Amino acid sequence: MHVLITGAAGMLGRKLSAAIARGGLPATRLTLADQLDPPAPAGIPVRKIVVPLTDRQAPQLLLADRPAVIFHLAAVVSAEAEAEFEKGYAVNLDATRALLDAIRRMSGYAPRLVFASSLAVFGPPFPDLVPDEFAPNPASSYGIQKLMAEALVNDHSRRGHLDGISLRLPTLCIRPGAANRAASGFFSAILREPLAGHPANLPVAESFRHYFASPRSAVDALLRAARLDTAALGQNRALVLPGLSATVHDLLEALRDRQGARALALISRNPDPAITAIVESWPGAYAATRARALGFTAETRASQLIDAYLEEDAPFLRR
Ligand SMILES: NC(=O)c1ccc[n+]([C@@H]2O[C@H](COP(=O)([O-])OP(=O)(O)OC[C@H]3O[C@@H](n4cnc5c(N)ncnc54)[C@H](O)[C@@H]3O)[C@@H](O)[C@H]2O)c1
Repeated sequence: MHVLITGAAGMLGRKLSAAIARGGLPATRLTLADQLDPPAPAGIPVRKIVVPLTDRQAPQLLLADRPAVIFHLAAVVSAEAEAEFEKGYAVNLDATRALLDAIRRMSGYAPRLVFASSLAVFGPPFPDLVPDEFAPNPASSYGIQKLMAEALVNDHSRRGHLDGISLRLPTLCIRPGAANRAASGFFSAILREPLAGHPANLPVAESFRHYFASPRSAVDALLRAARLDTAALGQNRALVLPGLSATVHDLLEALRDRQGARALALISRNPDPAITAIVESWPGAYAATRARALGFTAETRASQLIDAYLEEDAPFLRR
């Protein structure tokens, strides 16, 4: 099986390619595409394609060897898509449309396509627990772009051009390495930085509730989606993934349990109205009924987010 990953140099793309190389899918080769040079995991033949997805030639280059499974992860993330309107639409919508359309034009080809969507497709006002059938009404350009891309995945799937599934990922926490330009980046930073003995900034109130999963859970979900019998999905190919509903306070308590009060002392509180406005437009809890019934899972305690990070990304910090 030939597998293509777009956004392969990103946080999730790297973890996904490594998991596939470890046998997470019966893949015989990987094509890794990104505008940046993606790292190649050992143990599997890898072809890298370093090209902006907005390049007119990109879809043909990526699809030349007819990958059986495509993970479409490349994206301009939330805060950047809000700051740079044209760039967000060019990558998150136009390049996605060009990729799907190029698949459509290839006869006798209908790959499995797993699209990394986001819970930013939903907008306020929210019930306390958001059911699967809650009407999406995004409150950010990023959310609008993800929702439009989901609609394209649904339509191309309905017409048999591809066999698509969109995963509405929770906020991934703890994100390893440097922060990207996602508005939600501080959730990871307030755990990751103190775990390493570094200071961190908290821009929202401690009572703020949000919905999380570890990057490891997200990779498991992507792999499950690649193998799923999509007949169970019907016309709506978008799934809200299970996640952990937790407040900032819950995260900080888990950090205290792990590292003691001195870790909490590294966090300074500087409320940021811009960040608060974006993250307040996202709900704190989802039912994720359909995905749970299909076997998707995630963490159930804040401490598990920390454990997943220490096991996978920072074993040198384990004690
Ligand atoms: N991390 C999260 O919390 C989260 C939550 C919900 C959804 N998602 C979605 O999951 C996917 C992966 O997220 P991530 O955290 O790995 O993001 P990331 O920013 O680490 O990776 C995105 C990758 O896309 C690449 N990219 C961006 N524009 C490109 C272009 N024009 N051409 C080619 N490559 C381009 C970047 O170079 C980067 O390597 C994204 O689609 C994101 O929207 C992530």
